[in-house]
Amino acid sequence: RHCFSKSSDGFLYCEGVRVEDAMELAQRSPFYLYSKDQISRNFEAYRQALEGLRSIIGYAVKANNNLKILEHLCGLGCGAVLVSGNELRLALKAGFDPERCIFNGNGKILEDLVLAAKEGVFINVDSEFDYENIVTAARVAGRKVKVLLRINPDVDPQVHPYVATGNKNSKFGIRNEKLQWFLDAIKSHPNELKLVGAHCHLGSTITKVDIFRDAAVLMVNYIDEIRSQGFELEYLNIGGGLGIDYHHTGAVLPAPMDLINTVRELVLSRNLNLIIEPGRSLIANTCCFVNRVTGVKTNGTKNFIVIDGSMAELIRPSLYGAYQHIELVSPPSQDAEVSTFDIVGPVCESADFLGKDRVLPTPEKGAGLVVHDAGAYCMSMASTYNLKMRPPEYWVDNGSVVKIRHGETFEDYLRFFDGL
Ligand code: LLP
Repeated sequence: RHCFSKSSDGFLYCEGVRVEDAMELAQRSPFYLYSKDQISRNFEAYRQALEGLRSIIGYAVKANNNLKILEHLCGLGCGAVLVSGNELRLALKAGFDPERCIFNGNGKILEDLVLAAKEGVFINVDSEFDYENIVTAARVAGRKVKVLLRINPDVDPQVHPYVATGNKNSKFGIRNEKLQWFLDAIKSHPNELKLVGAHCHLGSTITKVDIFRDAAVLMVNYIDEIRSQGFELEYLNIGGGLGIDYHHTGAVLPAPMDLINTVRELVLSRNLNLIIEPGRSLIANTCCFVNRVTGVKTNGTKNFIVIDGSMAELIRPSLYGAYQHIELVSPPSQDAEVSTFDIVGPVCESADFLGKDRVLPTPEKGAGLVVHDAGAYCMSMASTYNLKMRPPEYWVDNGSVVKIRHGETFEDYLRFFDGL
């Protein structure tokens, strides 16, 4: 069951609430609209898939950092995957257990590492300088740090180059020829570091689970090698990256169960705890980005639907050429002509599009239009370009539309200049 569905008379619903009614209530567009229950269902799919394994589901906070959503995921039993000191601070505020948090990143700064060390979160070692900083952080914090080595396994995730991270020429992780250097270094600092696991993250929007299996095979070989040198490794972290059905074609894509099942035997055979780091597959399909149509125009051979949302609030189509499904929230008028449109925003550049060549009935001015699967990497990547203010967020909770983040205002912006 999915939270967004169209009734036979052509109205889009989110868990029993007409999106049109949510627009009426919000009084401002664009905005993000989530289903709280869909978040729970997505988490439950991972929890069920992991039954019989010792595991941590570490939600990748970068995908969506709304505090209310973090509190909800935390309450369900989720851990958190963090890439900055502020993400760590927010996760702590949301109540996450630091022992179920992992601090990742290729450019972690000392100040943030000290915080992570003090809190006792797992830290992934990404490079020689990162290792040195982690040793320093352990000393400053006066606490031994549990570390995982982030291995760059050189597996091609077959995705857009901007979201591939595990190929040998990417900036992330440690290549095998350097592994011994790290093992020797860690051995020489037994008071500061405890090597507890190995990590890899291949990339994002991955739709073939064989790719995860290939990586897991390589990773357990590394783990065997590291264990043979006397380290007691307990954790295999296979990262995040599972894709979702952005195209709404009904094609059956791998689910969390399929992903876990391809690595389950390997994990059990080495008596490991499994850490996974899903972002998109937990949160993307729980949300729509809701807009109003400002007008319709034609130039040359192109028809445009101009909406009030833009690349400022949702940049994935502009940045990666990503496809996100678009539809109207209410039935079109009887005589509405069906045409092929680009869906564009008001931002002053031609990269400002939410969708290209979409076949839709010509909407009336003021009609509601949604961009689907907007829960991951949309609000968290929003900017204030053209002084568009970051939009509010709502979720449907138990049949009611509830605001879970205020929209930013012009006054908020002016505050940065107070007293200057
Ligand atoms: N773990 C690590 C180390 C990561 O770098 C990422 C995402 C994840 C976990 C979560 O991956 P997910 O399950 O969400 O695929 N902005 C891009 C996606 C960037 C992903 C970056 N790393 C987009 O909008 O498609």
